Amino acid sequence: MQVRINPSVLAADFVNMEAALQSISSADAVHVDVMDYHFVPNLTFGPQMVGRIQDVSPVPLDVHLMIDNPERWAVDFASTGADCVTFHVEATEDPLAVIEALEKAGAKTGISVKPGTPIEPYLDLVERVDQVLIMTVEPGFGGQSFMDSVLDKVTAVATRAADIGRDLWIQVDGGVGPGTIQRAARAGANTFVAGSSVFGREISPAEAIAELRAEAQ
Ligand code: DX5
Ligand code: ZN
Repeated sequence: MQVRINPSVLAADFVNMEAALQSISSADAVHVDVMDYHFVPNLTFGPQMVGRIQDVSPVPLDVHLMIDNPERWAVDFASTGADCVTFHVEATEDPLAVIEALEKAGAKTGISVKPGTPIEPYLDLVERVDQVLIMTVEPGFGGQSFMDSVLDKVTAVATRAADIGRDLWIQVDGGVGPGTIQRAARAGANTFVAGSSVFGREISPAEAIAELRAEAQ
């Protein structure tokens, strides 16, 4: 599976969003973090903003829902034209229902687990989804330190995907940058979210993306 670099606009300047999006045209997707002040103690975008990002983005949207009640809201984000919508399994009693609703709305689907949530109960969903996101920090904020302790979950997902011959985006999110991306890749991740290691560096976002891509090979 080819390495994918998905910069997170959480680390971009929100009032210069269009310029930020243009600066990452060499990325594979743009990671859009949706937070609701309930599932996580932070607040970001609703579907209207995600729709405008979709309008001007040069790359597909990878929407990460950190919200309660995804069965109620996830489809609104799929309706923006987002390529993939990922929700947290901790936020719903019925992950399969959310997956089916997103599929019906025409989006690729992803499930995510927080660092403290085991992946075993959800491994059977690997054959249903396009992406599994293993959080490598507690969700809510950018700029935190990468947690190596969750890499066994990355390997468990990679092993299941290989066992059933499924091409899966195995994503890590949080603290991913030079120095940590290699460890995540070695554990089996192929899709890397990077916020602070793409935006706000000494080097340009395009150079940062190229550097991360090279380190993950
Ligand atoms: C955190 C978000 C991440 C965040 C990562 O809850 O899900 O996508 O933007 O930021 P960095 O790469 O700075 O850790
Ligand atoms: Zn995210």
